[in-house]
Amino acid sequence: MIYLDNSATTFPKPACMWKAMEKCLREYCGNPGRSGHEMALKTGEGVYEARKTLAALLGAEEPGQILFTLNATEALNLGILGVLGPGDRVVTTAMEHNSVLRPLKMAEGWGVETDILKCGPDGTLPLDNLKKALQKKKTRLVVCTHASNVTGTIMPVAEAGALAREAGALFLVDGAQSAGSLEIHVRDMNMDLLALSGHKGLLGPQGTGLLYVRRGIPLRPLKYGGTGTNSRSRLQAGEFPEDYEAGTVNSPGVIGLGASVRWLLQTGVSRIRAHEMRLMARLDAGLRAIPGVSVYGPEDPARRAGALSFNIAGLDCEKAADILARQYGVALRAGFHCAGLAHKTIGTWETGALRAGIGPFTTEEDLRTLLDAVEELTRPIWAKKPG
Ligand code: ALA
Repeated sequence: MIYLDNSATTFPKPACMWKAMEKCLREYCGNPGRSGHEMALKTGEGVYEARKTLAALLGAEEPGQILFTLNATEALNLGILGVLGPGDRVVTTAMEHNSVLRPLKMAEGWGVETDILKCGPDGTLPLDNLKKALQKKKTRLVVCTHASNVTGTIMPVAEAGALAREAGALFLVDGAQSAGSLEIHVRDMNMDLLALSGHKGLLGPQGTGLLYVRRGIPLRPLKYGGTGTNSRSRLQAGEFPEDYEAGTVNSPGVIGLGASVRWLLQTGVSRIRAHEMRLMARLDAGLRAIPGVSVYGPEDPARRAGALSFNIAGLDCEKAADILARQYGVALRAGFHCAGLAHKTIGTWETGALRAGIGPFTTEEDLRTLLDAVEELTRPIWAKKPG
């Protein structure tokens, strides 16, 4: 299979990731932060090493500001529901994933007010829209994706964060589609909270994610239970990171994630970015050159992360994905990508779209196979047209 579904989950992963997981599971996987024996301590050290590595990747103040979650969705739920209360106002964008829009919809039931900003047809957030929304009314939280999971459009997050800070609002970034592909420095980029998926650009296993929380931000836990600390108390006081990771942590997964992030740091995110940008330029230009193909999102590869959506005239996107997988061995994702408003923004509310997601291991050859296949699929359509 030619795997071009890296925006859903990356594949393949660096061997060091699954080797670290296997070693943990086969040799020492005790319960971290609970018991005092050697196996539990070694597992705890592995989890701490992963926290430290992630803090280094993201420029966090200290490892304890990294809270491990099941995925980016859980991290976003914790970031959103953990800071909001009745009467709060939130400003967000129309390019957000449902893991932002749905918790916000739920919070509206508590009396939270949500303002969803319109974006341009290529998914870009005009900063003026944000500025005006923040001037209109006191805002508690601004939530913005770093890169759209539909179009790959890169949002001006550092600037948006500065505007949020100026207005006295907290700034939460969804980095599910950017971490590992785009450089992130939470403090330089004015992020108060950053939600990430472990299994996408960070090249870790599924079942891992994290929320970075700037020191000093009060946060309510999302789940309550055993934390390995203050066991005689019925209160979960909000100590970082334990009180936000109630229950046994996914230690093998987190240790695998630590290994893949060490691989990323050795390889260099900037090198991965250069590779993905070159391939994205090739894919974008190649698709735009095929008659009957519509490409969404910015043409300039500097403004796009690893996702690109497109449609083939006269062919339903789900059907096209099925043909591409079965007849050409190319794996894409089609439909609405859990981001209905993003599809409304780019004009594919009725149709959905095909999405190609590239990753660090994607090659020119992979793209050639996709482009040849799409060209073949469009041929019957444009061949019929006069001229
Ligand atoms: N959120 C992932 C995607 O966009 C699963 O495909």
